[in-house]
Amino acid sequence: MTRILTGIQPSGQLHWGNYFGAIRPMIEAQKGTNEMFFFIADLHAFTTVRDPKVFRENQKNILLDYLALGLDPEKSLFYRQSDIPAHTELAWYLDCLCPMGLLERAHSFKDKKAKGLEANAGLFTYPMLMAADILLYSADKVPVGKDQKQHVEMARDIAQKFNSQFGEAFTLPEPQIAENVQTIPGLDGQKMSKSYGNTISIFENEKTLKKQINSIKTASVEMGEPIDPATCSVFAFHTLFETLDLDDLAAKYRSGEIGFGGSKKLLFETVWEYFRSARERRTELEKNFDQVEEIMQRGADRARKIANKKLDEIRKGIGIR
Ligand code: ADP
Ligand code: TRP
Repeated sequence: MTRILTGIQPSGQLHWGNYFGAIRPMIEAQKGTNEMFFFIADLHAFTTVRDPKVFRENQKNILLDYLALGLDPEKSLFYRQSDIPAHTELAWYLDCLCPMGLLERAHSFKDKKAKGLEANAGLFTYPMLMAADILLYSADKVPVGKDQKQHVEMARDIAQKFNSQFGEAFTLPEPQIAENVQTIPGLDGQKMSKSYGNTISIFENEKTLKKQINSIKTASVEMGEPIDPATCSVFAFHTLFETLDLDDLAAKYRSGEIGFGGSKKLLFETVWEYFRSARERRTELEKNFDQVEEIMQRGADRARKIANKKLDEIRKGIGIR
């Protein structure tokens, strides 16, 4: 059985890029016979989130969002990183084994520093905490967006180093990147990202969603003029949602029967319907937040047992026990 594990930081509102890049692949994988682990990387989020009120809100929102979008806690072990102290202990052992040069080469650290984020020590050692998250559960595959590929490779490198020094303790993980999705563009055509303010949120209200869809950048063409669907970002979104007859829509683009405005209107209707049941589930879950908290506690109890068993093995392996 394949072990699939991924984590997400509670660092803001979930958007379509997160959905197609990271959430939908996990929900799909749940349908198979895989062993699934899914956690909220709240310790990682503390490298950048500094407002306690915002931090609490983000945590609550992400739990509700994931459960509403179809994460099934019976099939996926769902937990919070900070509920399992083994993550930070293993991260320390890995930090001590990790050459500074490996961390200095991390693109993500360099990018964040270039964007003006405070280069704190937590941000620098971030990849070793991420390695601990993955290695404690012997994950085979780690579904992530392209930007996280290097971090998973670093987890593999440090696992190899540990194994060759102390004996075969860790499974070597592989990044799993949805090739058909790649990088979802935002409203301005750049990568959709919270940091660029160009996102379309999953749980947006009707009015804002309409406004956001209307502001997707398109070329200017006369009414009735034919459009090549392959060059239209609105059409690209229709392709991702897969709910309309795409051949029919493409023919309407080519004949000039539908323009960008019409296509955006259709996209709004599609998306509003696509996330309807998730929206309804989210409202219900929010009313019963105590149950969500119980789900998280049950997940943490199960995850802690697996993590502690591995940590014990590691403590013995390095001789601290
Ligand atoms: P953001 O760039 O908005 O801060 P995160 O870093 O929180 O997003 O990403 C969470 C997950 O969603 C990661 O696995 C990431 O690779 C994926 N992801 C984020 N944006 C996109 C995008 N535009 N296209 C595809 N995947 C994405
Ligand atoms: N660094 C990841 C991100 O920003 C989140 C993350 C933390 C993660 N630990 C992980 C992802 C372990 C996969 C596996 O998106």
